[in-house]
Amino acid sequence: MKEQLANIRAQALEAFEQAKASADLDALRVKYLGKKGELTAVLKQMGRLSAEERPAMGQLANEVRAALESALDTASKKLEAAALEHRLEAEAVDVTIPGRAPAIGHRHPMYIALDEMKEIFIGMGFTVLDGPEIELGELNFDRLNAEPGHPSRDWSDTFYFDQDEKVMLRSQTSPMQVRAMDTMKLPIRIIAPGRVYRKDEVDATHSPMFHQVEGMVIDKGVTMADLKGTLNTVIKKMYGESTQTRFRPHHFPFTEPSCEVDVQCHKCGGVGCPTCKGEGWIELLGAGMIHPHVLEMAGIDPEVWSGWAFGFGLERTAMRRFKIDDLRLIFENDVRFLEQF
Ligand code: PHE
Repeated sequence: MKEQLANIRAQALEAFEQAKASADLDALRVKYLGKKGELTAVLKQMGRLSAEERPAMGQLANEVRAALESALDTASKKLEAAALEHRLEAEAVDVTIPGRAPAIGHRHPMYIALDEMKEIFIGMGFTVLDGPEIELGELNFDRLNAEPGHPSRDWSDTFYFDQDEKVMLRSQTSPMQVRAMDTMKLPIRIIAPGRVYRKDEVDATHSPMFHQVEGMVIDKGVTMADLKGTLNTVIKKMYGESTQTRFRPHHFPFTEPSCEVDVQCHKCGGVGCPTCKGEGWIELLGAGMIHPHVLEMAGIDPEVWSGWAFGFGLERTAMRRFKIDDLRLIFENDVRFLEQF
């Protein structure tokens, strides 16, 4: 029996030593120390021993049990440590690898220019309006004094949805003048930025979709001098105090008198270059005193009220602001271009 115990001890210690995983150790614990294990089997034979032999053998058995238990404990700790070591190695983070910088987006240059413009007008007491890009022909043309047959209504210029020219993609933000007159209380000071659509081929200065910023003031005693003063103030705020402007006579059906406003070319300073097509000036907007008939159609008495309106080309405004010389850059969304602003 003594020999049996010694064998169990030797075999078990050896097996514990060799175990590769804690599951193996569990199995070995059952095999040697379990209820049906080898040590228990030996202990069951104790009954056969004489009363003198029993205590010594009992003590020996207890010693063996204690030795196995402590060896199991050591082996299991060793395995745990090895497993931890392995995990640390596998999950190691190399803190010296350079980080991946997240790409942070930012505002589009045209919207930077628009926000600057809004800021200036809001500071002058204007309200910013938003309106539909799908517009009624009635508001885009009729109520703006462009009667049937007017060249701007031509199918070669305008995106209509129906044969009767009742619904269209707005070709200008000017119908926002009518919407404001129909819905707001006088006096009115508004700007209305947004997309407009015309059947133009894409080139360095044209796109079938572009942006305008409409503006309108209606009050008592409003004159062309207010229009000039306001526009000059805004343009100088955007482009610098020394910016030169030029007001040229022009025609629009819904303003009388009408003008176009140019700024001196930023590239050549007015001498003439490819950017300004040799003109020395770049056209920024159309403007004028609101035609009395347009006021009348909105139920506003032109004998009491007067007003003016303007329509900035937003792309041009941004191009001049950031010295961009090709309109297409604004729409291509090339990150290398956009990141510069
Ligand atoms: N709507 C005109 C255009 O698209 C611009 C404009 C607006 C002119 C307001 C006068 C007054 O060309």
